[in-house]
Amino acid sequence: MGFESIASAIPPPGHSLILLNFSDKIKDMARVIAVCNQKGGVGKTTTSVNLGAYLATLGRRVLLVDFDPQANASSALGHDRSKETYSVYHGFLGEAAPEEIVRPTQLFNFHLMPSSPHLAGALIELVSVPEREYFLRKFLNSVRHKYDYILIDLPPSLSLLTVNGLVAADEVLIPVQAEYYSLEGLGQLLETIELVKNNLRHPLKIAGAVITMYDRREHLSREISKNLRRHFPHHVFDVEIPRVIALAEAPSFSKPIILYRPDSPGAFAYRRLAEELVDQEKESLDEQKTLSTPRFGNFNIMVE
Ligand SMILES: Nc1ncnc2c1ncn2[C@@H]1O[C@H](COP(=O)(O)OP(=O)(O)OP(=O)(O)O)[C@@H](O)[C@H]1O
Ligand SMILES: [Mg+2]
Repeated sequence: MGFESIASAIPPPGHSLILLNFSDKIKDMARVIAVCNQKGGVGKTTTSVNLGAYLATLGRRVLLVDFDPQANASSALGHDRSKETYSVYHGFLGEAAPEEIVRPTQLFNFHLMPSSPHLAGALIELVSVPEREYFLRKFLNSVRHKYDYILIDLPPSLSLLTVNGLVAADEVLIPVQAEYYSLEGLGQLLETIELVKNNLRHPLKIAGAVITMYDRREHLSREISKNLRRHFPHHVFDVEIPRVIALAEAPSFSKPIILYRPDSPGAFAYRRLAEELVDQEKESLDEQKTLSTPRFGNFNIMVE
């Protein structure tokens, strides 16, 4: 779905809201973070799975919601789709409550709400559902108080699924691959976030961008990191997630990196990212740089 069509999927400003009083109630509840970038293969799922795992090892109660019909996060955490278990799609159909869908993972305090390919069909059905942008937010309502963090792994699109994920979230974490084209489209993503904020009056914050698949030996990687840090109008996490084979291999063993190669550079990086995110807890909500997102076009990348 292109930008224009998603823009038209978001109602105009002033759209009546059933959830306006919601934000006051959620402050003591989970910090809900959508892991979002409409670009494919930038490390959204790898980040959701491994960040979630390290947040859990730092003592936080974590739920990972797989809201992508590809269900990569579900399989990376060993969810067996062939078994007759509920997925978030059953929740969409009204056939299962969140508590019935959530499954434990191999890590203490790290739970998964699995996805299934049927979720792609929900996208079409959602179009005719009243308050279609709010399905996921309302659905997660009954489990928000059970967790410190709820991470939502979103698909590579700016579809209604993505809008549902953004509306369900308090914050957005944007993985940015250290690759030439990955900075293109960031402006479009920020404009979509603005549309959700303004037209749905949803106080969505940007937790920050994290650079993924970084190779410090590559000039291009270093340039992209430098450029993002210089021009991105929001926080960029200090840690750069390195491009390492162990992070790509871990899902085939149905394990997060902490259970596959805990002493590897990829593991250290995701631990560091979890620590940086936990450090943000100390910042007051008011201090966060979320008041407005300036118009932000594509980056001009100067590769020297
Ligand atoms: N830091 C990394 N080092 C090496 N390989 C990585 C790294 N991060 C991700 N990968 C690999 O790159 C591919 C894409 O990563 P991932 O699935 O996390 O991206 P995604 O943004 O979720 O993709 P999609 O848009 O399809 O959902 C996967 O094969 C993954 O194992
Ligand atoms: Mg993914």
